[in-house]
Amino acid sequence: MSGDIRRVGVVGGGQMGAGIAEVCARAGLDTVVCEVDATAARAARDRVVASLDRAVRRGKAEEADARDALARMVFTGTLDDLADRQLVVEAVVENPAAKTEVFAALDKIVEDPGAVLATNTSSLPVMRLGMATGRADRVVGLHFFNPVPVLPLVEVVSSLHTSPGTIAAVRDFATGTLGKTVIRSQDRSGFVVNALLVPYLLSAVRMAESGFATAADIDAGMELGCAHPMGPLKLADLIGLDTVASIARSLYEEFREPLYAPPPLLQRMVEAGLLGRKSGRGFHTYD
Ligand code: CAA
Repeated sequence: MSGDIRRVGVVGGGQMGAGIAEVCARAGLDTVVCEVDATAARAARDRVVASLDRAVRRGKAEEADARDALARMVFTGTLDDLADRQLVVEAVVENPAAKTEVFAALDKIVEDPGAVLATNTSSLPVMRLGMATGRADRVVGLHFFNPVPVLPLVEVVSSLHTSPGTIAAVRDFATGTLGKTVIRSQDRSGFVVNALLVPYLLSAVRMAESGFATAADIDAGMELGCAHPMGPLKLADLIGLDTVASIARSLYEEFREPLYAPPPLLQRMVEAGLLGRKSGRGFHTYD
């Protein structure tokens, strides 16, 4: 069935949405990226262009292939442009109300009753998004990792209503079409990776908050002592501190375990607009 998925839509053109759209277009798929308006759609296109340029510079893509990938993509500010899609991946901000609203709208707009509506949520219940539609059997979690063109993993998350056909379709799509590796998770906040990763990131924030060690030393510790490609505070900056805080809140709401509670410093930084790389400053500063 995955071979049949040729027309993909991505809702949200931030770092995750743009990355998902890029890998779809590079896999030869007709890809529509939908943002809130034309200005945001242009910014999403700029993100994809920058990443494709980087792939060419690093020898990961031929210039002609990058050009062809861009030509397969349409950037729009209108959700109605997703009407003929066979698969739509929602990758908007990690906020339950925003995501629920997108799913309710997609349910009305996407015409093919067999189309799959997937969410890239890191931590929200897939079930809740499925119930915002009249086709919960076709709603599934398809969780990519940042940077999407670089990291090979996709978590496939089934809710209590997701049909076996939907799971098979997205598994084949992620592996066969996109060349990713799939792991399966049940519908629990954080799934597999973030349930393990986020408490670690929060521990690093608490360590910096207590003055026990500097951000630079905490990161150097894990990079040089444990061969992680980046330390936890650099990684939190890459993910976005607002996103880390949102995931922590979802995990805490689900499990009520202190290790998931967002530390005050993280909350204050988000309130201060210090969101990490995307705002130019988080635990580190960026050009
Ligand atoms: N397309 C294809 N390949 C690309 C690329 C692109 N657009 N951009 C970079 N690459 C490749 C490079 O060619 C390079 O490959 P080689 O090692 O084979 O040469 C590799 O990616 C690394 O790129 P760079 O050397 O330019 O960058 P770097 O060495 O500084 O690494 C990094 C940057 C990839 C981000 C690395 O530090 C890393 O993997 N960090 C950890 C990221 C991580 O843990 N992400 C998960 C976050 S959690 C998440 O996303 C889920 C969630 O829900 C929050």
